[in-house]
Amino acid sequence: MGYEIDYYNIKIDFEKNEFLVLDQKLLPFEERYIKLETVQDVYDVIKNMNVRGAPLIGIVALIGLYLGSYTDMEFLKKARPTAINIFNYFNELKVYLEKRADHHKDYKELVRSFIIDILKSEYTKNLKISQNGFEILKKIVNKERINFLTHCNTGSLATIGLGTALGIIKYTSSEVLRSGGKVFVWVDETRPYLQGSRLTAWELHKEGIEFKIITDNSAAYVMSKGLVDVVCVGADRIAKNGDTANKIGTLNLAILCKYYGIPFIVAAPNSSIDTNLSDLRDFEVEERQKDEVIKIGDIPITRQDYEVFNPSFDITPCELIDYIVLDSGVYSKPYNF
Ligand code: MRU
Repeated sequence: MGYEIDYYNIKIDFEKNEFLVLDQKLLPFEERYIKLETVQDVYDVIKNMNVRGAPLIGIVALIGLYLGSYTDMEFLKKARPTAINIFNYFNELKVYLEKRADHHKDYKELVRSFIIDILKSEYTKNLKISQNGFEILKKIVNKERINFLTHCNTGSLATIGLGTALGIIKYTSSEVLRSGGKVFVWVDETRPYLQGSRLTAWELHKEGIEFKIITDNSAAYVMSKGLVDVVCVGADRIAKNGDTANKIGTLNLAILCKYYGIPFIVAAPNSSIDTNLSDLRDFEVEERQKDEVIKIGDIPITRQDYEVFNPSFDITPCELIDYIVLDSGVYSKPYNF
């Protein structure tokens, strides 16, 4: 059955009023889709992380506004509050609707065309990020074999198109292959939700890019052995000074890179910049449920009555970030977005 829009991780048919998202909780074992019929369905798939990754949750939230109404914005923003994408897309939609005097009457039609525009531009932006990332890598890693280390999942599952940090890795792989070079990726498993060992590994395997999964606490060891040329990660929110919120564990990597002199790159679309915040020093990231830590899936891995602290993201201060790669270009310190 064909869909009007099919990016694999999300399938949309406005004519048939059919909206499907790939259930990322079941990967890499099973590829099954969840049907979204109500705004509550949308809230649930975001909250429960069946869909995740800052750009994708922003797009799925827009579908929530299509299925529900304009007044559902505040409800949907609460599902995953750290990534700025939901907030930015909603603000853009507000402006888009306000420009059209008859927006009450044509609400659905306008949201539909807004979503289609966003999907197209996200695709193009990811390609631009990937190309920009490759350009800077050519200058800073002068080797035939480039050993990346990445954290979480920032690929086609989390975005529309190639991805951000993982987009750079895939693009670089296809470019260097042509000249006899090679890309290798250390994949941080990314506790507790395992976006690395389940999702990034799944994407790299599909692409035929060589990789090895490591536990998050192995990063220092592989770096100390000279086995990492560059670390490339994504972002959920970037402040004007370059401070970056990303998956918990990103800060550890940035600190390690400083010690070992390894370039640390953050990749994101320009829409990940929070123009209201000068820095993220006091930014509160979301804390998630304890089950993610004391269980893997449904399987208990420790006593269920133990206390847990489970911050989902951490903040990497701008001084630890060597380059921020956006769709608009490559930036280095001092950042001033
Ligand atoms: O909790 P998640 O899986 O939504 O966290 C995802 C990340 O931290 C990604 O690095 C970020 O959203 C960028 S995805 C292009």
